[in-house]
Amino acid sequence: MNVQLDNPIFEKLGMTYPIIQGGMAWAGTGQLAGSVSEAGGLGIIGTGYWHADQVRTEIQRAREITDKPFGVNVMLMSRHIREVFDVIIEEGVKVVATGAGDPAPFLDELHEHGIIVIPVVPSVGLAKMMEKKGVDAVVAEGAESGGHIGSLSTMTLVPQVVDAVDIPVIAAGGIADGRGAAAAIMLGASGIQMGTRFLASDESEIHQNFKDAVVKARDIGTVVTGELMGNRARVLKTPMAKQYIKNERVEVTKPKPDADAIEELENGSLKRAVIDGDKSTGAFMAGEAAGMVKDVKPVADILSDTWTQASELLNQTWRTK
Ligand SMILES: Cc1cc2nc3c(=O)[nH]c(=O)nc-3n(C[C@H](O)[C@H](O)[C@H](O)COP(=O)(O)O)c2cc1C
Repeated sequence: MNVQLDNPIFEKLGMTYPIIQGGMAWAGTGQLAGSVSEAGGLGIIGTGYWHADQVRTEIQRAREITDKPFGVNVMLMSRHIREVFDVIIEEGVKVVATGAGDPAPFLDELHEHGIIVIPVVPSVGLAKMMEKKGVDAVVAEGAESGGHIGSLSTMTLVPQVVDAVDIPVIAAGGIADGRGAAAAIMLGASGIQMGTRFLASDESEIHQNFKDAVVKARDIGTVVTGELMGNRARVLKTPMAKQYIKNERVEVTKPKPDADAIEELENGSLKRAVIDGDKSTGAFMAGEAAGMVKDVKPVADILSDTWTQASELLNQTWRTK
């Protein structure tokens, strides 16, 4: 029997599984997010630096697929952020997830419209700060994750955040099946978020080259770029990633990394991966969990397989050999 978690937010949203599909700029389209919510998880549209019209289009695409609640992940530094929030409120979106930045200036307004706000945090300090400001839950995201990352691993971050705050904690980073989900629950999380696993789903609209690369990736298939630029991002080891790291390391011969070359390579690089499948200039953002993703399957199967396996493990009586 599937384990039921005591998470008031998931209950309010009517979710079958305590599983969120993390917002992914360009990759988290309305089709993916709508399909995840329809199948019983919580789908989140990734909006990056999109202007408000693009955000509205993807919200409406998700609505065509499901009547169930879904979320929108916003980039608080976006210069379109005010208009993006206007669209989110007008369209009656139920959940806002935030990556980098402080959602506090918008919190009261979002809450007045009944919107649940869930920031992603990479540290205990930020989790405590977000709780104090009044957010509804946090996603504690470890550095195994795809995309922009902090430095702590999921294994150490999650229990420390759980101890530090009284709001629900959702674990992210390195989870791609029921074993990881069960482990996260044992660490005290009241739900899990996956990104990389959902890239390789039937409903994901990323370029076929990107899907193939996730499925082919091995355990050591990802690298962290931006280490020296203070902009850490986990991506698949493509020619672009290798060039990026090479540009960073020219400080051996020059006083600092080649920031111009890096900027040129980075601008629009996620779009070039997701839309064009271009390995020489695209950033194929994906987490260490890519090594565990061996197939492309429907999101309904990802959700049900993950939670059935997690429930079996959590129901098991453990004994050592
Ligand atoms: C291609 C890609 C793009 C992402 N973009 C965002 C983003 O725009 N905002 C955000 O908060 N997180 C972003 N993430 C992180 C995911 O929401 C999620 O937390 C993460 O993928 C979980 O770790 P996993 O990849 O190990 O499952 C991105 C991840 C990937 C793989």
